[in-house]
Amino acid sequence: MKIFTSTDEWREFRDSCWPQADSLGFVATMGALHPGHLSLVRASLKNNAFTTVSVFTNPKQFDDVQEFENYPGDVQADLLCLEQVGVDAVLLPATTQIYADDYRFRVSENDFSQRLCGAHRKGHFDGVLTVVMRLLNLVRPDNAYFGEKDFQQLQLIREMVAAFFMPVNIVACPTIREADGLAMSSRNQGMDSAERETAAFLHTLLKESKSAAEAALRLGRKGFTVDYVEDIAGRRLAAARLGNTRLIDNVVI
Ligand code: PAJ
Repeated sequence: MKIFTSTDEWREFRDSCWPQADSLGFVATMGALHPGHLSLVRASLKNNAFTTVSVFTNPKQFDDVQEFENYPGDVQADLLCLEQVGVDAVLLPATTQIYADDYRFRVSENDFSQRLCGAHRKGHFDGVLTVVMRLLNLVRPDNAYFGEKDFQQLQLIREMVAAFFMPVNIVACPTIREADGLAMSSRNQGMDSAERETAAFLHTLLKESKSAAEAALRLGRKGFTVDYVEDIAGRRLAAARLGNTRLIDNVVI
């Protein structure tokens, strides 16, 4: 497995050794890898000659500095995981390389990104779209894999790629869950055992409730602080907090 900490070295490698016929798959992550991330990696490995994964905790998508600083991560454990599943290359860029312009240039969306998670996390989706645009331009993959767990993010990335005529195919991958239904997330580590037990109700109540309003009410009774529950185009999307942990999920209705 090749490891690139320098974006220039990656670009040289990309330019020099790319036989046109080979397809390149790409998975962007912020590290603290779990089976949800690895399902994207496996989808890429299955359908591409070469798979590159980026591990970059993007500071620009956190509205809260504390949350960024506390974001879990163990690069050595992540690299071991990626090597075991058979990834070909990993990008570990420094913030100064990704944001050499000091974030003067950014992608901004002014409609859907302002709703749902965007209404509660100022600047979040500008940060996400900007880093994804930069990573896609840096990696130049044929196929890029994103999880349905972050459904609003996936939708915005698809729309950005279409809007800017970006030559990449965005592939959506299903949400990987724990046995009790909780969507796997790097944030799940932050919960104590009581919170962890309650957390599974997010998925159950989104599925079982007859309306978004009913789901919000029932989540509140279980002890969640609900940011939103909304039904959009056949999907019920929600974000809710348990203590310091913010959980998101969505189900088809
Ligand atoms: P991160 O939270 O690390 O997630 C990386 C990718 O893994 C995203 O596409 C996300 O939707 C997917 N993923 C996470 N948990 C999943 C699960 N349980 N099942 C299926 N897929 C899952 O999302 C981000 O990072 C960042 O916003 C990023 C796109 C890397 C930009 O910084």
